Amino acid sequence: MGRLLLSILLVGLACFGQDDARLKWFRDAKFGIFVHWGPYSVLGRHEWARHWYQIRQAEYDVYARSFNPERFNAEEWMSLFARAGAKYSVVTSKHHDGFSIYRSKVSDYDMKMTPYAGDPLKDLAKVAPKYGIRLGFYHSIMDWHHPAYRPRRSWEYKDAKSGGNNGLYVDYMKEQLRELLTGYGDVAMIWFDGEWEHTLAELKRDDEVYDYIRTLSPNTLINDRLYERKPGNKADFGTPEQYVPATGAGQGLWESCVTINQASWGYNKYETEFKTERDLIRTLVEVVSKGGNLLLNVGPKPDGTIQPEFVTRLEAMGEWLKTNGEAIYGTTASPFERLPFFGRATQKGSTLYLHVFGWPQDGQLRVPGLKNLIHSAYVLGDEKKTPLGWRRDGGDVVLSVPRTARDERATVVALRLDGAAAVERYANRPDERGLIRLGMESAEIETRFEQRAKKENALGKVFLTKWSRPDDVPSWNLETPKAGRYQVEVRYGATRGNKGKEYVVQIGKQVMKGQIVDTGNEWVFGVQKLGPVMVEAGAQTVVVKSASEQGLEGVTLESVTLVPVR
Ligand code: GLC
Repeated sequence: MGRLLLSILLVGLACFGQDDARLKWFRDAKFGIFVHWGPYSVLGRHEWARHWYQIRQAEYDVYARSFNPERFNAEEWMSLFARAGAKYSVVTSKHHDGFSIYRSKVSDYDMKMTPYAGDPLKDLAKVAPKYGIRLGFYHSIMDWHHPAYRPRRSWEYKDAKSGGNNGLYVDYMKEQLRELLTGYGDVAMIWFDGEWEHTLAELKRDDEVYDYIRTLSPNTLINDRLYERKPGNKADFGTPEQYVPATGAGQGLWESCVTINQASWGYNKYETEFKTERDLIRTLVEVVSKGGNLLLNVGPKPDGTIQPEFVTRLEAMGEWLKTNGEAIYGTTASPFERLPFFGRATQKGSTLYLHVFGWPQDGQLRVPGLKNLIHSAYVLGDEKKTPLGWRRDGGDVVLSVPRTARDERATVVALRLDGAAAVERYANRPDERGLIRLGMESAEIETRFEQRAKKENALGKVFLTKWSRPDDVPSWNLETPKAGRYQVEVRYGATRGNKGKEYVVQIGKQVMKGQIVDTGNEWVFGVQKLGPVMVEAGAQTVVVKSASEQGLEGVTLESVTLVPVR
């Protein structure tokens, strides 16, 4: 019996070990490039164009037939991705439109119908290893073209659900997966999408597809969009889309996929607003500080070139990573749950990296509750590794970093410690005067890209702006040594349109309602007093949120201050 138990344990360990080896590269890679490319790029107005603009199949085929990426050069793509500092790339083998951007033996709805003679995926697979890029494929389960797939688009077919043969469709999908997994080198991952119509789950064939991939190519990772599977068939990683979870995404591996423009994955010539290189670098840092990967998207043009707005931003990221890559690749999540400055942390072995986005006005960087001995502290990129001045203040370490050493996108301070970072939980506490200031720098919030609620520094402070979703909820850790009565002062700026909207400040179990007043505009600040309220002693969470379904777009939150009343 004991022996049986032992061998079960050993098998378990062996499996875990194997699993860990399969996933290690992904865990360490941190940064990948997503590529959405196909006939929709010819239209140049988002990869959902056929559906949104109700373009019938016959008409869409005209675009598909004209897809002719004469200027596509796999070397150029891969060399750009490598220059950007990416370690892997995920390219759409087939998007929702059903078109395969390779040469498939089981479909004619592929490169064969175009004037282009080559197979882009073959070229990419050949070139990628040379640049140290692992190549994976995005493969849509939903298919707006395949005659056997149901449901069809309801604006195109009167009876969108009848006819068809989903079983046959799954056979087809498996066959395409076989082509991709056996003819295109080592495939890093299959990145499923379009699972919400549940075709595979309804047919109870999602496990079959999962097992099929595992058998054909055991090292290929599978994302979490294959819908439900039997418990053993676990997804290798989660895929938050266009957002960074507030506190990481649990224990498992995850990867946030994000566009450089506002919201198009496929080429969109009408999108003219792009995240700045600073935004992108900080997003990478934020994701990595929470233990995740960033899959940053480009939608190449139909001719195969990548628009300059993407190229310059990717190159800027690469330039930053050249100096600061050691604080990104192979690191693990921040040991801090919250920080008192606007920035993030990562760690590797006995080195702690502080990524500073915004400098406190006194220029002093407070590292809260760091218990380790510090061997040295310096700014990455400083070749001389000039030691930074620092002192202990209670449990904290306070560093001074000369202005000249700062990178306004993100400055990385490396602290060589006596071992893995050991830190005390950070909480906002009363200051000498008994005031508790909860500034945005020490708040945690989910970063959403479509609506772009985010922490931003301006005027030497950090604010929450574009606060448009009711579930964008900033939260703080508060620790009060003793119970007491406080007046709550909420400092914000608000546009006229927000006047009268209700919001809520919650301190532990206490809930207070406020009504937004018009301060002139969202960058003119006023203080609104709520309470007084009794705050219990001990640790609690403070949140501020919209009280209605509407968000608070046009309200910029600066801080919540608890002022003791006697
Ligand atoms: C969504 C969209 C799709 C895009 C994907 C990327 O699921 O339907 O167009 O490819 O997000 O994550």
